[in-house]
Amino acid sequence: MDFFDVISTARAMRRYKPDPIPEETLVQLIEAAHLGPSGSNRQSRHWIVVRDPEVKQQLADLNRKGVTQYLAGNITQANPHVDEGRRQRFLAAVEHQMNHMHEVPAIVIACADTVRKPADTFAAGSGAATEVWGSVQNLLLTARALGVGSVPTTLAFYGDQREEAARVLNLPDHILPMVLIPLGWPTGNFGPIRRRPLDEVMHWDRYSD
Ligand SMILES: Cc1cc2nc3c(=O)[nH]c(=O)nc-3n(C[C@H](O)[C@H](O)[C@H](O)COP(=O)(O)O)c2cc1C
Repeated sequence: MDFFDVISTARAMRRYKPDPIPEETLVQLIEAAHLGPSGSNRQSRHWIVVRDPEVKQQLADLNRKGVTQYLAGNITQANPHVDEGRRQRFLAAVEHQMNHMHEVPAIVIACADTVRKPADTFAAGSGAATEVWGSVQNLLLTARALGVGSVPTTLAFYGDQREEAARVLNLPDHILPMVLIPLGWPTGNFGPIRRRPLDEVMHWDRYSD
């Protein structure tokens, strides 16, 4: 695929067929992620590829808790740049994924290696988050290029659920689970990504004249 076609159609895919993803494809996705940039090239990331049904179920349960809280909260801010119909379809897809997370062929957990013991607050851990996201995007784009559907998610790790996830995954204290990425062959099509107009966010030289 043309590189720009990959980028412009790598939208969030949340509905998958049950077919497994070949192991070599999973390795290829993690290889792509591992090539991502990091501060001082510390490469302080780990990737847990989950196929075990029991572990998937436990992660799905955590995601359910986070999504339930999210959907019960003030979701008027969810996907604010699209019309109401699209917004409702977005929320329906998040809910569908919540109900089927345990069935997805594979789940990748992107983890940050904090080297020292993790700080108490998530805000302090967000330094670690910056280390994983470039790599996560590599993974998402590679998945798109290979026809694999994916979406980066974080609701499973809300609040103290991050610790529960760490227990489920047998993570040592200095490894934080940051992003949960379900992977599967999509039931729908990769459509064009929609964003607000570029001139609302792109500035030359200064924010304003
Ligand atoms: C930091 C971050 C956290 C996210 N958390 C979730 C999540 O918990 N659940 C989910 O379904 N999608 C999650 N997403 C995916 C976003 O909803 C998605 O990237 C956004 O709606 C744009 O989708 P699009 O590329 O299809 O337009 C997250 C994305 C980011 C960058």
